[in-house]
Amino acid sequence: MMDITKLAMATSKFYLFIRNPTNISHFFHQLSFNSKFSLEITRKMKSKEEYCIDVSVFTIIHIGSWNKMKQTVYITGADRGLGLALTEVFLKSNFKVFAGRYMNDWTELDELKKEFGEDLDIVSLDVTDQKSVDEVAKYIEKNAGQLDILINNAAIYKDRSEDIFGEFNYEDMMKLFDTNVFGPLRVSKSVVPLLMKGNRKILANISSEAASLTDSWRKKEYGYCMSKSALNMQLTILQNQLKEFGVKVLAFHPGYVRTYIFGEFNPNATIDAIESATGIKEQILKAPAIEEHMYIDYQGNKLNW
Ligand SMILES: NC(=O)c1ccc[n+]([C@@H]2O[C@H](COP(=O)([O-])OP(=O)(O)OC[C@H]3O[C@@H](n4cnc5c(N)ncnc54)[C@H](OP(=O)(O)O)[C@@H]3O)[C@@H](O)[C@H]2O)c1
Repeated sequence: MMDITKLAMATSKFYLFIRNPTNISHFFHQLSFNSKFSLEITRKMKSKEEYCIDVSVFTIIHIGSWNKMKQTVYITGADRGLGLALTEVFLKSNFKVFAGRYMNDWTELDELKKEFGEDLDIVSLDVTDQKSVDEVAKYIEKNAGQLDILINNAAIYKDRSEDIFGEFNYEDMMKLFDTNVFGPLRVSKSVVPLLMKGNRKILANISSEAASLTDSWRKKEYGYCMSKSALNMQLTILQNQLKEFGVKVLAFHPGYVRTYIFGEFNPNATIDAIESATGIKEQILKAPAIEEHMYIDYQGNKLNW
């Protein structure tokens, strides 16, 4: 893999005339070869008394590690809704996207594939299935060798449970936990080593305002709300450990978004998925510092834990 780290621009050329230097090699050593400028001595001539030195000054611009490989992002639950919109906005920002496909009969990712070609890698993924999660991690490792950004987006909402006076459906609630809590944990665990090799080192998650303990207002939806609170706890633990490796963990509330979260398209929500995805992308690309509040909305506003 090609790895360009510096750009050197010749900014000036001049001649140095030195009379009777006592120690010419010591003199060269003293010229500042720092990170910003570099001198190149292209010719040395010696007349009777003087050295004439042809010197080029180069300005060195450090451009970091720029690989031929594009920056990479892995998005789960990318078939439709917010995941599909995130896939589109990152592709338009020139990223290579590994997009998790869960619904084989949903074709919107194929439409994006026609437009973006090899920049979009559609990978089969069920976040409740360890084998499927591990296969995707291996695939990303083989094809990219690193990962800049993970976005744990896949989640479900469906729960036939009612309020405390009605029926509870523990099977639905357990499915909610398997998908919304253990799903992101499985996926994060599978790619943490790749994220640590990435340049951006962002482990982003789509949480919800429904996770907030401080601002809790619902009188039902136990399964979904508890799953998102548990996700937030998971993220604080991850951040505690991963901060020493420079990995930033984020928990987003995406807004009330027009998606399929209730099973069919919800036109009554307040914002479009592309608007939410664009905001989330901007917050991620701002590269927030590890110390910054982790739990924010798509516009960067802080939420209470
Ligand atoms: N929409 C909102 O207003 C809102 C508000 C707060 C938070 N969120 C969060 O935003 C995220 C995106 O949701 P969305 O609104 O875009 O919902 P969505 O339209 O239903 O998209 C979620 C995608 O994840 C898929 N998925 C479900 N189970 C999966 C699994 N086991 N493995 C992989 N993928 C799976 C879904 O497939 P199926 O359709 O087949 O289930 C769907 O394609 C979720 O984390 C959600 O909790 C949404």
